[in-house]
Amino acid sequence: MTLRAVVKGVGHYLPERVVPNSEFENFLDTSDEWIRSRSGIERRHFAAEGQTTSDLGFEACKAALADAGMDADDIDGIVVATSTPDLTFPSVATMLQNKLGMTRGFGFDVQAVCAGFVYALTNANALILSGQCKTVLVVGAETFSRIMDWEDRATCVLFGDGAGALVLQAEVGNGTSDDRGILSADLNSDGRYKEMLFVDGGVSTNGESGKLRMQGNALFRQAVEKLTSTAHTALDKIGLTDDSVDWIVPHQANIRIIKGTAKKMGVPMDRVIVTVQDHGNTSAASIPLALSVGVAEGRIKTGDLLVTEAIGGGLAWGSVVLRW
Ligand code: UT7
Repeated sequence: MTLRAVVKGVGHYLPERVVPNSEFENFLDTSDEWIRSRSGIERRHFAAEGQTTSDLGFEACKAALADAGMDADDIDGIVVATSTPDLTFPSVATMLQNKLGMTRGFGFDVQAVCAGFVYALTNANALILSGQCKTVLVVGAETFSRIMDWEDRATCVLFGDGAGALVLQAEVGNGTSDDRGILSADLNSDGRYKEMLFVDGGVSTNGESGKLRMQGNALFRQAVEKLTSTAHTALDKIGLTDDSVDWIVPHQANIRIIKGTAKKMGVPMDRVIVTVQDHGNTSAASIPLALSVGVAEGRIKTGDLLVTEAIGGGLAWGSVVLRW
């Protein structure tokens, strides 16, 4: 008997306001053509004034619970991946508990920036496999528009806001890679690369929330190799190769990174879920958003083998292999 954390529902939420690339031409020395050709981004959503990360997460959770045919009483734990919480504390997860009317169980946040969702999935999987929880909501929710320097054209055109959520539930599998659910994971971080992507503020430094700073090109050069390597490590752990992959569901930072990684893995682009053109980089929300869109479009189907992979600030990177 092998316990597996199986996806029972998925949902997402994007704030109403859609911002096309052309809007940045009004106040920055940039162009739709530059943003499109260098990143693949055409538009992104920005949260309204007063709309917080937990507001976005709440909508995504409701959608995922509805998809699973469950309500908040069915949930034992909430794991939220975010780097843009409503407040320094308490966690966005406990705010979601409150909004959902969930008075039992527990919630906590995971902070691994753009790799946050693979870290959150891995934690949720461990909670299920250890018997701590039967059913876990895993959420990626971000309001990166709040930490943009609107004078820095190299970063502020790249990011967006949004949220996605999955319901994972314990199920008994047969212990092979044919099982549905999370099959393997690989997590990595290396603090030597801190300067490549960070926020220049914080509680114990200057008491401000700070703005995002990125050495985009240096990070770009790390990304494809590390993403391919983590995906291969996770696949290798369960004796699978690139040929078994039905869908790569990558972190959506840059279409050139997405294409480069798919090419290195030998997976054609028609088996990669791409949302970067519509969402921009939503950090920890990008993978659950892409999963939800992939399912809604009828592309990802029950039984498909998925590889999710992500890299971001830390540097932190990793991947999760799951059968939908
Ligand atoms: O999600 C977390 C992980 N994040 C990533 O993985 C992001 C990784 N990096 C990237 O996606 C890309 O490096 C960027 C999209 C950020 C930049 O693309 P790039 O091809 O690496 O461009 P670059 O940074 O080398 O800049 C090329 C030029 C520079 O001008 P010079 O020095 O060649 O004259 C920049 O100043 O493009 C200029 N530039 C812009 N021009 C117009 C930078 N931003 C802009 C802009 N509009 N918005």
